[in-house]
Amino acid sequence: TLTTIPVITLDGPAASGKGTIAERVGSALGFHYLDSGALYRIATLAALDAGVALDDEAALAELCRGLSPVFAEGRILVAGEDVTERIRSEEVSRATSRVAALPAVRRALFELQRRAARTPGLVADGRDMGTVVFPEARLKVFMTASARVRAERRFKQLAARGVAADLDELTRDLEERDRRDRERATAPLRPADDAHVLDTSEMNVEEVVKKVLDWWSDASKLS
Ligand code: DC
Repeated sequence: TLTTIPVITLDGPAASGKGTIAERVGSALGFHYLDSGALYRIATLAALDAGVALDDEAALAELCRGLSPVFAEGRILVAGEDVTERIRSEEVSRATSRVAALPAVRRALFELQRRAARTPGLVADGRDMGTVVFPEARLKVFMTASARVRAERRFKQLAARGVAADLDELTRDLEERDRRDRERATAPLRPADDAHVLDTSEMNVEEVVKKVLDWWSDASKLS
């Protein structure tokens, strides 16, 4: 059943800045925030920890159904363990794009995502928020940026945390992950027909937040 709760979807490729924008837009509007990529990452980390094979679709789906992650004050807890940093490792990132391609995994995480739509509203970021999970969303945004720009942003984030990285390797890695997200059969990365497409290559965070909030105020006038 579709919700009448206000939902804004922000989809786009890896490192397109969706998370930052979604959090900023969410706090500007007082809305909840769903980081759907974190759910796929949490499931993947749990599978790696439990030694579940990454191609055992049934076992992975079962594992997903048993997850009840807690998002609190910027931290993510799974079965009492703080996994906030571990789910962002390159190992988990790479494995996640394989796990997220499995239809049974996506079905198993669907309800968990739908339940995030609560009053007064939700900002949801991911790959298929506007196409599959919240097709009724009042505002859909699809953010893009060149792989190089995204790799540079990731590079700076890593450097700020004191992590050394190779820019060319980051670029290749992002392109490879994008390709897998785009070409998968189930819920591939693509803009919804009614999405606003925004290329953020030449924009800063403030500009993107403002653009999304402007679209939101237009969309709210219409409904
Ligand atoms: O947004 P992210 O980088 O945290 O996403 C991690 C992985 O999960 C990425 O490979 C794409 C996948 N994903 C997905 O398939 N569907 C979503 N709604 C969100 C993420």
